[in-house]
Amino acid sequence: MRHKNGKRKIAILTGGGDCPGINAVIRAITKKAILENDMQVIGIEDGFEGLIHNKCRALSYDDVSGILTLGGTILGTTNKANPFQYAVKEGNQLKFEDRSGDVIKNIAEMGIDCLVCIGGDGTLWISHRFYQEGVPVIGVPKTIDNDIKGTDITFGFNSAVTIATEGVDRIHTTAQSHHRVMMIEVMGRKAGWIALHSGIAGGGDVILIPEIPYRIDKIAEYIHKRREKGRHFSIIVVAEGTTPAGGEATVKRVVKESTEKVRLGGISFVLGEQLEKILDLETRSVVMGHLQRGGSPTPFDRILATRLGSKAVDLIIEKKYGKMVSVQGDHLTDFPLEQVATGPRLVPIDHELIKAGREIGVCFGN
Ligand code: F6P
Repeated sequence: MRHKNGKRKIAILTGGGDCPGINAVIRAITKKAILENDMQVIGIEDGFEGLIHNKCRALSYDDVSGILTLGGTILGTTNKANPFQYAVKEGNQLKFEDRSGDVIKNIAEMGIDCLVCIGGDGTLWISHRFYQEGVPVIGVPKTIDNDIKGTDITFGFNSAVTIATEGVDRIHTTAQSHHRVMMIEVMGRKAGWIALHSGIAGGGDVILIPEIPYRIDKIAEYIHKRREKGRHFSIIVVAEGTTPAGGEATVKRVVKESTEKVRLGGISFVLGEQLEKILDLETRSVVMGHLQRGGSPTPFDRILATRLGSKAVDLIIEKKYGKMVSVQGDHLTDFPLEQVATGPRLVPIDHELIKAGREIGVCFGN
């Protein structure tokens, strides 16, 4: 559709948890849309919240100049606003309302030709629902967790691994000095990508991921053997979603307004207590937490984000709505949004990095 001023209008929103590289995607989409395609670009504020309440602003070339290296998202985000199940507080009670009609109406009134949704599986699922309702939508996968179906890698992951690895490096020296067993807990929800990569990059002795439930006796035996060999410290890199064999994940909090309500966290403390009961040693636990999501993206993520943003504009031009831009090997392609929400992309237990780890003596807890 051409508007009064003859320009096509696209809107960008960022939903779910932030991650390094979002601004680089916003910048690439906006610059290419304006420079190459003479489009008008609208930024929606705070994810789908902004589409429910009509919070948006025009994005010019100047608005996105200088944001390549900036962490977070200039548009704001939330992981609580699902328009199909929008949480409203009534006194102490939470009520859920369907506000999808408001979103569709606002999109039509603004004359948006395509909505670009930069988000994780939750946001991409909501985007797909709107596509089914007739909204032209393009998705851009975003998460530090690297767990989105249909793409080999997500931007933000490399930055998170870099930060987590620096954490492991720093813990190494203090663990060594004090002859301690130290746990570093990293994010990732039900997937162990960050733990696996930062664990290998940081030379972790034990790497625990949700895909391989651990046995505490196996970890204790491994640490005991290390001590017998004269290694009086050990580093355990543990993913937040890791479970003991036959046990449950450790829940940090429940966010009732959120589509995915459970927030994981605390497994490193549980592990520490379990190990101290078996072995005569002192443990300490460090949770990397939101440090992994903050700050400037790595050069790798800046490049990936720029490529994905540019590809998203190609999909808009080709009218490939209902698709997400995706990385397959060295190539950029597209993937149907409806297949994204069929579950997280987990680490295959025969992954070559697990094999390589085992071959150099890393314990995976089983
Ligand atoms: O999905 C990204 C992520 O950072 C997860 O790794 C983590 O479990 C979750 O978000 C934390 O969410 P919140 O920002 O609500 O604490």
